[in-house]
Amino acid sequence: MQVITTVREMQHASIAFKKTRSLGLVPTMGALHAGHLSLVQRALADCDAVAASIFVNPTQFAAGEDYETYPRTFDNDCAKLEAAGVSLLFAPIAAEMYPAGAATFVEVADLSNRLDGASRPGHFRGVATIVAKLFNIVAPDRAYFGQKDAAQVAVLRAMVRDLNLPIQLIACPIVREPDGLAMSSRNRYLSPDQRRRALILHHSLHAADKLLRSGETCAEALRIAMLDIFAAEPSIRIDYAAIVDPATLLPVADTTHGALLAVAAWVGSTRLIDNLLIEPSSAATPIEAAHA
Ligand code: PAJ
Repeated sequence: MQVITTVREMQHASIAFKKTRSLGLVPTMGALHAGHLSLVQRALADCDAVAASIFVNPTQFAAGEDYETYPRTFDNDCAKLEAAGVSLLFAPIAAEMYPAGAATFVEVADLSNRLDGASRPGHFRGVATIVAKLFNIVAPDRAYFGQKDAAQVAVLRAMVRDLNLPIQLIACPIVREPDGLAMSSRNRYLSPDQRRRALILHHSLHAADKLLRSGETCAEALRIAMLDIFAAEPSIRIDYAAIVDPATLLPVADTTHGALLAVAAWVGSTRLIDNLLIEPSSAATPIEAAHA
């Protein structure tokens, strides 16, 4: 695995690779877990070679968020990516990506203010900007993102469409711990007790899913089922429980045409998210399959 830290070198390496091979990109902020590695596996299945990036992007963290304390486990991450079969790792420092005077941002209007964007102002502007930059620097044929960050996928799909970027964006399923907790780099912030209570996010989605499987399609009924689960754990502060269109992130009245059931909550000072994508004609949801 070639580790590259400068934009120039990465652009040259990409050009060399793409002469003969298709290239997949997996952008990350490091602190890698099996969720990240599932994206690499999917990219390896689709593409001749895979590039990953590790960059804790300052512009997507608001003041007071965890930019400084975000886990940085570079050596460990390198070993995981190399073992997984990644050919190129782009790992720049912040000054390489945002040199003095950098003043151009990418903003997907409206979508960026919904779900996580509503509680994290400026977050998706930072995400769209860094991903657009990574796309220009690495120039992959395909780029892989986790459905775990469903609003991020919606924002980035809109960006690719609106800016006519010649890149196929592929969303991959959520990877969970054996008990159902969605894997996240931030799970390591949780104490053992918080880790146990964090399962409530998954449980709330499971409750809504059960109701859905019984034939309920009314979004508000499903939302109430999710909120009922949270009512039993008052120590956890819910940020949102929403049933929305996965592309527009706007609320839907019913799930007949598919929907995204999304939840965010504070477990202590750690903000966690989870979701369940309901396909219009799905026979079995991912949660149902996991509990079969
Ligand atoms: P990060 O949180 O490191 O996540 C990198 C990628 O891994 C994202 O596409 C995310 O959705 C995916 N991912 C995280 N947990 C997952 C899980 N449990 N199952 C499947 N995929 C999972 O998301 C970011 O970084 C940043 O915003 C980034 C896109 C790199 C821009 O800075």
